[in-house]
Amino acid sequence: MNTKNLSFILNDVEINIKVNPSLPLLDYIRKEKHLTGTKEVCKEGDCGACAVLFGEVIDNKLNYKTITSCIYPIGNCNGKHIVTIEGINKQELLLHQKAFVDENASQCGFCTPGFIISFTCYLLNNEKYNLDDAINSIAGNICRCTGYHSIERAMDTVIKELQTKNELDKIDYLIQQNIIPEYFKEIKKRLINLSLPQETIPDKSAIFIGGGSDLFVQKPDDLLEEEVYLITERKLNYIRESNSIIKIGSGTTFEEIKQSEILNKFFPSLKNDVDLIASLPVRNVATVGGNLSNASPIGDITIILLSLNANLTLSDGEQERNLPLKEFYLDYKKLNKQKIEFIKEVSFHIPPKKFYFNFEKVSKRTYLDIASVNSAILIEVDNDKIISASISAGGVAPIPKLLVQTNNYLKGKKISIDIIDEALQITQSEISPISDVRGSAEYKRLLLNQLIKSHFLKLFPQKIFENELV
Ligand SMILES: Cc1cc2nc3c(=O)[nH]c(=O)nc-3n(C[C@H](O)[C@H](O)[C@H](O)COP(=O)(O)OP(=O)(O)OC[C@H]3O[C@@H](n4cnc5c(N)ncnc54)[C@H](O)[C@@H]3O)c2cc1C
Ligand code: FES
Ligand code: FES
Repeated sequence: MNTKNLSFILNDVEINIKVNPSLPLLDYIRKEKHLTGTKEVCKEGDCGACAVLFGEVIDNKLNYKTITSCIYPIGNCNGKHIVTIEGINKQELLLHQKAFVDENASQCGFCTPGFIISFTCYLLNNEKYNLDDAINSIAGNICRCTGYHSIERAMDTVIKELQTKNELDKIDYLIQQNIIPEYFKEIKKRLINLSLPQETIPDKSAIFIGGGSDLFVQKPDDLLEEEVYLITERKLNYIRESNSIIKIGSGTTFEEIKQSEILNKFFPSLKNDVDLIASLPVRNVATVGGNLSNASPIGDITIILLSLNANLTLSDGEQERNLPLKEFYLDYKKLNKQKIEFIKEVSFHIPPKKFYFNFEKVSKRTYLDIASVNSAILIEVDNDKIISASISAGGVAPIPKLLVQTNNYLKGKKISIDIIDEALQITQSEISPISDVRGSAEYKRLLLNQLIKSHFLKLFPQKIFENELV
């Protein structure tokens, strides 16, 4: 069985253990450390009852994020600060806990530790507070009995009570305001002093684990028996730009994509697009490499990267090779790679001419849901003439699909309603959706047509009159 030496801080205690890296963090917290304040409900990353704070030192700064510990491998906690509700509790109630009590924001209390953890993280992460952002920060937490208004009132009370301007360091300020306990002061220094193991090379039989947000929903028990390789060991979370090429490390999380200044500079709409993917605690762990490799035909980041004509760098730990992303998918969940190869990096060129980008996703509910059909477009236009078009589509074929024939047809054409109608006929001939829980094949065909029209309506509203295109 796979074991690994780990060093991390759990609440105020330094932990040094040899453990199966595939053990879900929640199981360790509850079953081995008996910290039962962190709850187990869905065990699928959906409800936030198991939320814990995940602290790490990045660029000499201590950052915290919330993660759903039920689907997170303990192996990824090396060198981190993991905080359960017991790790922020004091003898007396904290300021925000008291507000929850005063506003009747807790009934059965099962969800409450998760809400307090997510709200604490919001207070740790932001310089200025406002209720809308605070509400967004608890979007991954579900309460089944109290209802959300009392929770919102409790958060509003706290936000109003906290000064937005102060001279103190954030941690010192939140200690002073009775939001977190004293020991947080020393955490940064203690994390820096933890001695961590060196990077290793993957074993031939190893299963790669990124954020675990797919694997730990699909087959948590099997993973305990398997040889695994943690992508986090390689520190592949980066986004770099040079000579009009953007490189994204495969360990980069969805939330890092959302917050990236580089990506926001070139793709200003991307920030809002990423909000349509999963919930904050899942976006905090789910990686680009995991999205590409689980090969779901509706993977959102995959559909975006396909339209950007991305290339992959695959590595077996020693040798590397490059492959266009569009050649990575051979059939349903069948990848053009050896078992020992992992995705190291994904890269794409920023087009030299004026370009436009758009992403569309339709799911049964707008947020916190996977797509029925999704699509992205990267299009270069010069004086109404399409220099190049790259439209991708998910949920309409066994693989995430680049609409090659549609794209070829559009190249060199002048944008008009007739041209788009022609293109849509070609699109229909190159997709093969099936009926499933997300909709009938017929519905998905219709949906993709609408999404492609939406791309053009959003990007070129002045050229296309809305009432002529519906
Ligand atoms: C509540 C919830 C909501 C979700 N919502 C969405 C959504 O809206 N949109 C969406 O697209 N997805 C969604 N997902 C699915 C999932 O989060 C993503 O697919 C995610 O990108 C998986 O990344 P990961 O790093 O967690 O992958 P993991 O679970 O670690 O791995 C997934 C697969 O990729 C392989 N793998 C991981 N990293 C690499 C690598 N670098 N090289 C080679 N193979 C690798 C693993 O072996 C495994 O086969 C959701 C998941 C949950 C739990
Ligand atoms: S138990 Fe529901 S998200 Fe973890
Ligand atoms: S208080 Fe019961 S689930 Fe939220």
